[in-house]
Amino acid sequence: MKTEQPPVIRLSDYTAPAFRIERTDLTFDLDPERTLVEARLDIARTDGDAQSLALDAEGMELLDLQLDGRALDAAEFRLDQDVLSIAEVPERFTLSAKVAIDPQSNTRLEGLYRSNGVFCTQCEAEGFRRIAPSIDRPDMLSRYRVTIRADKASCPVLLSNGNLVDSGDLEGGRHYAVWEDPFPKPSYLFALVAGDLAWIPDRFTTKSGRDVDLRIYVEHGNEARARYAMEALKRSMRWDEERFGLEYDLDIFNIVAVSDFNMGAMENKSLNVFNAKYILADPETATDADFAAIESIVGHEYFHNWTGNRITCRDWFQLSLKEGLTVFRDQEFTADMRSRPVKRIQDVRMLRARQFPEDAGPLAHPVRPDSYMEINNFYTATVYEKGAEVIRMLHALLGEEGFQKGMRRYIERHDGQAVTCDDFVAAMAGANDVDLDHFKLWYSQAGTPEVTAEGHYDGAAKTYSLSLTQRTPPTPGQAKKSPLMIPLSVALIDPEGGNQTLTLAGEDRGEETVLHLTQDRQTFTFENVPRAPKPSLNRGFSAPVRLTQPLARTDLAFLMAEDTDPFARWEAGQQYACDLLLEMIEAIGRGEAAEADPAFVEAMGRTLTNDDLDEAFRAQVMVLPSEEYIGEQMKTVDVDAIHAARETLKRAIADRLYDDLLAAYEGRRDNEPFAPTAEQAGRRALKNACLGLLVASGTADSAELARLQYDTANNMTDRMAAMALLTAYGLLRRR
Ligand code: PHE
Ligand code: ZN
Repeated sequence: MKTEQPPVIRLSDYTAPAFRIERTDLTFDLDPERTLVEARLDIARTDGDAQSLALDAEGMELLDLQLDGRALDAAEFRLDQDVLSIAEVPERFTLSAKVAIDPQSNTRLEGLYRSNGVFCTQCEAEGFRRIAPSIDRPDMLSRYRVTIRADKASCPVLLSNGNLVDSGDLEGGRHYAVWEDPFPKPSYLFALVAGDLAWIPDRFTTKSGRDVDLRIYVEHGNEARARYAMEALKRSMRWDEERFGLEYDLDIFNIVAVSDFNMGAMENKSLNVFNAKYILADPETATDADFAAIESIVGHEYFHNWTGNRITCRDWFQLSLKEGLTVFRDQEFTADMRSRPVKRIQDVRMLRARQFPEDAGPLAHPVRPDSYMEINNFYTATVYEKGAEVIRMLHALLGEEGFQKGMRRYIERHDGQAVTCDDFVAAMAGANDVDLDHFKLWYSQAGTPEVTAEGHYDGAAKTYSLSLTQRTPPTPGQAKKSPLMIPLSVALIDPEGGNQTLTLAGEDRGEETVLHLTQDRQTFTFENVPRAPKPSLNRGFSAPVRLTQPLARTDLAFLMAEDTDPFARWEAGQQYACDLLLEMIEAIGRGEAAEADPAFVEAMGRTLTNDDLDEAFRAQVMVLPSEEYIGEQMKTVDVDAIHAARETLKRAIADRLYDDLLAAYEGRRDNEPFAPTAEQAGRRALKNACLGLLVASGTADSAELARLQYDTANNMTDRMAAMALLTAYGLLRRR
C-alpha cells in the first residue's frame, strides 16, 4: 500500500527548464499488448549549471538507452520513481530511448490506450510520460515527427499531428505512416490514433485562400451521424476568422470520435479527439440540447488552436489561460449562432449550480491555483467557467473593440510561446493603455463576492444614488479577502419604460454604463434624473457575484416586463418566482394553503404572448427555478413542500393562462421537417414549456396532447419532453 502523500507543487517554485528538446522523433510499433516506442530527442542545455538530465517516464519498460549513438551502461543512468535520470550530459546531444508499453491493459485512458479496438492517446495533462521518456511539461515546446507502424488489416488508418509526409507497406501485413508537425508544441498536445475507422471528408477555404481538408473519423456505420459535427466545425472556422480574425494554419484538420474518453474532447494539434457522444447525432437519438452541445464543443476544441496550442500555458497553474479564454470564445460562438440571451441564461444557471457551490465549499480555489498535488483534479468549474467569467469581465471593461485589440497584442507578442495569465492581462492592459493590476486579484482570490445595492432617489435634487458594498466570504487558506475590481453593468429604467440617460460626475455615460466597483463600499450618484427610476444591475451578468438588492414584488414585476436587458429581465422573473415559492413553502410548512400571486402569473402571461421576444428566450422565462435551486435558498430543505409549492404555482399559471398556453402550443405543433437549427429549437422549447404547464393543470385534454405528441414526434426533443411529462404525472396509458 502506498501511504506517502504526493509532493505539493507550488506556483512560486516555478523555474524555467534547464534543457530544451528541439526535436522529438517518435517511432511506434503498435501492438495491443506490447507496443514498442522509440523516442529520439535532440536536446540542448539552456541552464549552464545543470549537470544531470531528468526525464519523466511512467509505467514503461526501458529496453535501450543511447546518447549520441552510444549505449549507456547501467551506472550512467537511473530509472527510479517515474524519473529517468542521466548523471552527466553534454551541451547538445541526441538521446534515444526504446521502451515497451501495454495499451490493452491501460484503463486510465491516459497515455496510449485502446478503445473498441482503436489505438488512441490522451496526453493532457501528464499522459505523455506514459508513452515515452520526456520532459513532460507544457513549456517544453518541441517539433515532432512521428512514424507509426501497425497491422494493415486491423489498423488501416494511422494518424498523428501535422502533415502526412510518407506512407507505405511493410512486410508481414504491416504498413506505416510518417507525420510531421511544423509547429513546435508541448507534449500534452501530441496525439496518435490507429484503427479501422470510417470517415467523412469535407473542405474549408480560409479567408486568405488556404484549402483545408477536413475529416471526421468514426466507427463504421456512423458516418451519417457525424454530418452535423462537420457543419459545426466549418461554422467554427468561419466564426473565428470573422470575430477574432484567426485563421486555421495547416492543410489538414482531423477529428476522431472514440467511445472511451475521460472528458468531452481534446484539442491535440490538428487531431482533435472526441468522446463520441459529442460528435454523433441524428434526430432519432439527439435532442436539441445534444446538438447545441456538439456545436459548442466542436467549437471549443477548434478555438484552442490559437488559444491553447499556438499560445500555450507556461505551467499547469495557468490552465485557465487557455481554458477560461477558450470557454469564453465558445460561449460567444454559441451566442452568435443562437440566442445570445438564452446562452447567457444557461451559462449563468450552470455557474450558479456548479461553480458557486464549489467556491463556497471545502474545495474552493482561485482561478489560478497556487499549489496542487494532482493536476487532474484542477479541471474544475472554477478554472473553466469562472475563468471564462474573468475574461468576460475584461471584455465588459474594454468593450469588444478594446478586447480584440488586446487579443491581437497577445497573439503578436506570444505566438509560439508558453505564457502566463499575467502575460495575457498585460497584453490587454498594454493594448488599451489601462491599468489592470487591481483586476488581477480575480485570478488569485477565491470565493464568490457578495454585492449589495441600495438606491435612493432625491426628487428635489433630481439625483439617484446607488450605494454598493462588496464582501467576499473567507475560503480555505484565504481567511482575509480584499475588495475586487467588479465591473457592474448598470442602467436606470424609466417608470414609463426605456432607459434614462446616465450622467455621472458631469460625464454623459449613455443609456448603459459599467461601474467600476473597487472598494468595500462606494456610492455612485447619477445626476439629472427626471423621474424615480428602477435600477437594472449586473446586466448580462457582467460580474460573477451574488447580488442582493431590496426590491419589492412590484419592482420585480416591473423589471420582469420592462427591463431593457433580456438577461436582467429573466433574472427579475426568477427572483420573483423564487421569493414567491419560498413564501408558499413557508405557508405549506405552517399547514396553510399556498397561494400564487396573480401579479406574477400576469407578468408571465405578458412574456408568453410578447412576439417581439425570441421564442427560445420566452421558453426560459416560462420555466420556474428548479427544485434544487430553491432548495439552495433554504436553511432546512423541505423537499415535499418545494415540490408542492412549485406544482401549485404551475397549476395557477396554467389555470389563468390556459387559453394563451394552448394557443401558443397549438400554433407550434405542426411537425415541420426536422432540422437541428437554433430557430426550430427555440420553437420546440417554447412549445414544450407550454405543454409542461398545460399538463400541470391536470386536464384530460392536456394529457391527451402529451400522449399525441409522444406518438407523433419526429424528433427526440419533442418525444422526450412528452415522455417526461407522462411519467412525472402518471399519465402513461396502454392503448
Ligand atoms: N483540454 C480539454 C478541453 O478543455 C479537456 C481535457 C483535459 C481533456 C484533460 C482530456 C484531459 O477541451
Ligand atoms: Zn478546453
